[in-house]
Amino acid sequence: MDKRKIIIDTDCGSDDAMAIAMALNDERYEILFFTTVSGNVHAHQAATNTLTTIERAGSYEPPVYIGCTEMLLKKLEFAYETHGQDGMGDIGLVPTRLKVAPGNGVLKILEALEAHEPNTIDIITLGTLTNIAVAMRLAPDTMRRVRRIVSMGTAGLGTGNVSPVAEFNIWQDAEAARIVTEFGVPLVYVGWDACLGDAILGPDDLKRLTESGPLGRFAVECNRQLMEMNEQRFGYPCLDMADPAAMAAALEPDCIAECDEYYCEVDTSNGPSYGGVLVDTYRFSGKQPNAAICSKLHADRFKEYLFRTLGA
Ligand code: BDR
Ligand code: CA
Repeated sequence: MDKRKIIIDTDCGSDDAMAIAMALNDERYEILFFTTVSGNVHAHQAATNTLTTIERAGSYEPPVYIGCTEMLLKKLEFAYETHGQDGMGDIGLVPTRLKVAPGNGVLKILEALEAHEPNTIDIITLGTLTNIAVAMRLAPDTMRRVRRIVSMGTAGLGTGNVSPVAEFNIWQDAEAARIVTEFGVPLVYVGWDACLGDAILGPDDLKRLTESGPLGRFAVECNRQLMEMNEQRFGYPCLDMADPAAMAAALEPDCIAECDEYYCEVDTSNGPSYGGVLVDTYRFSGKQPNAAICSKLHADRFKEYLFRTLGA
């Protein structure tokens, strides 16, 4: 059977790393390449982290291209407190063998879409939507060849993680998220709420991963900084894994418990709700839905998929 082709766009911090390792070990898919964007860390550091993850995943080795280093308008504010200075928990991880591929990530996305039949490539985004928005503005007809975009972004139907209403990936470049949301290709946002509740990786899950072998241990250890933060936030060591949740929703749709289509509007106003996404749940606007919001996973299926792809 033909493998489904995907491109993964990432601001590779520690939860991106776990998601990337999962995707690399799912044999039903072929990752054509990775593109990086600034978000959790600078796009160059995100590329280093992606290469480290590819080496650790021990699967195949798609190229990694760097895309946008700056946001469209907003000043970058990296997530050092969540993922560490290097995005990977500051435990000294560096790639030993792999190097960044030459070429710009945004242009590579467009080249790939032109080189393949329409509706054959999915784009999965784990970070800021800047690369995708720039590609849409540069070559809209080419971007319409994408089969669908699955994006870790929005607070879903819940509350934000950088403000009461905003989730980090949207807030880091809300202007880009607005362009993507209004563009008009099939778009699934996997909200921040999808990785919470029973989907949080608790002590037993973390023990299972850590004891399973080098890949499981790597996936937990690079999240060291987040774990410390969560001990303060939740009162016990645990990991809320937004990007793995999005990856599971994209690659193993049986994991999805709740996903509905809505009209969504990204707030780009210069105020306290910047980066919030208004989800028109009661259809007040009368406008056609422009995105699906996945707000809940079947926690058991999500964890089963995560363990399976990480060899635990
Ligand atoms: C998202 O923000 C980043 O910190 C994570 O990598 C994830 O993509 C969660 O809001
Ligand atoms: Ca991310």
